[in-house]
Amino acid sequence: MNTAENNPEDFSKSQQKHLMQCWSAQGSYEPIAVEKTEGCWIHTAEGRKIFDLRSAHECINLGFNHPKVLQAMREQMEKVVYVTDDFATEPTAKLAKTLAEITPGDPNKRVWFAQSGAAAVEAAIKAARFYKYNQMVKKGLSTTSEPHLYPYPYKIISRYRSYHGATAGAMSVSGDPRRWLQEPFVVPGVVHAPDAYCYRCPFNHTFPDCDLACADYIDQMIELEGGSAKVAAVIIEPIVGSNGIIPPPPGYLPRLREICDKWDILLIIDETMTGFGRTGKFFATEHYDIVPDIMVVGKALGVYVPLTAAIFSHKVAKSFDENLFGHGQSYSGHALACAAALAGIKILQEDGIVDHAREMGEYLGHKLAALAEKHSSVGDVRGIGLFWTIELIKDKGTKEPLRRATEKYSYTVVSKIAEYLLREKNIYIPADKFGIWVVPPLIVTQEEIDFLVDAIDEALVIADNEVN
Ligand SMILES: Cc1ncc(COP(=O)(O)O)c(C=O)c1O
Repeated sequence: MNTAENNPEDFSKSQQKHLMQCWSAQGSYEPIAVEKTEGCWIHTAEGRKIFDLRSAHECINLGFNHPKVLQAMREQMEKVVYVTDDFATEPTAKLAKTLAEITPGDPNKRVWFAQSGAAAVEAAIKAARFYKYNQMVKKGLSTTSEPHLYPYPYKIISRYRSYHGATAGAMSVSGDPRRWLQEPFVVPGVVHAPDAYCYRCPFNHTFPDCDLACADYIDQMIELEGGSAKVAAVIIEPIVGSNGIIPPPPGYLPRLREICDKWDILLIIDETMTGFGRTGKFFATEHYDIVPDIMVVGKALGVYVPLTAAIFSHKVAKSFDENLFGHGQSYSGHALACAAALAGIKILQEDGIVDHAREMGEYLGHKLAALAEKHSSVGDVRGIGLFWTIELIKDKGTKEPLRRATEKYSYTVVSKIAEYLLREKNIYIPADKFGIWVVPPLIVTQEEIDFLVDAIDEALVIADNEVN
């Protein structure tokens, strides 16, 4: 049928007019009409072929249109797309078991499914608070007889440079300045800790002489926030994502694990961005050899279908055997999404994609390090696997950032670089306030990395000129 909407010009105009774009003032919204996607590339209606260097918000780890995933989805669609969790479906059951088995720790876990990272984070926070409540009731500690225990441990410790999602609870635990848009109507009970950000250490220390002062500070915070009687959990991204791709120093996560165990509070690890091979291991947590109490996964989990999960360790899950898990939503455990996820996990496991990501990551890391030497605007290059950032600065000596957190968003050199790469090189690049990201689909080839880094090398001249 030849309707106006079939015409690319018309559907992009229609989307521009009617779609509310995320995190944007709508007046400057100009979506590019897409004809099809394939591998790492977006083919536009105008005949351009654009490399998606942001892997569609870090969701498309396997690249677009992987035939095995599409086939698994087709086959599942013919059987069951969705039924409620009063019924069991093969993909939902298999995926819950698979996630329980492939995530760190005892496989005797339970999994709760949602459709956004934020929703899974909300579930993790609620479950941590319920768990602490159940624990107190079990110990016979009345919430009224001992007023200092009232109502039950509820505080969540998060960090400033963190993002856990845009809904009320998830945004409250995010330290990201986007939280300010919601204040003062945030969910109470969250305390933010300093970051494990060695390039700009909040304590002005240097690793390893610091002896992980940033982790020990959290120990002090827990004590001063009331210890186990008041604090339910610590939530962290194993490698900070949206706030600048910041891997922690070695030993940081194990130290945090020890601190949580000492206080008997839960450690929630949010792997929404880092899971499913992104960092060169199946989960980023595996680099640090720790076991979380609750793990959140999302983005690349569903491959092409929105699917996220909160995965509860046996210790947490068993507390809900007799007590209510007071949380839920429609479409939880969606069979079609679970079938896509299972196909995606199988490909990651059987086709060597995670090893490939690790190898390509090492190659990419070396090439990006060379850019840091060459360009006066590059302050730091950091990352792991295929999860890298180039932090831009105004002055290499003072490390003056490109933009302070409190500065109002404006058109910056980062925007200029992103525009240049899209216009001149057909590369769609993710950028934050502080720099540009290099997070290609995990199937990226060495030739594609050469092409990407050469283009970034040229684009960085824009930042060098601005800095100089
Ligand atoms: C670590 C982390 N957690 C949670 C979220 C929220 O995920 P969603 O956008 O699917 O709600 C994000 C999104 O970027 C994230 O990076």
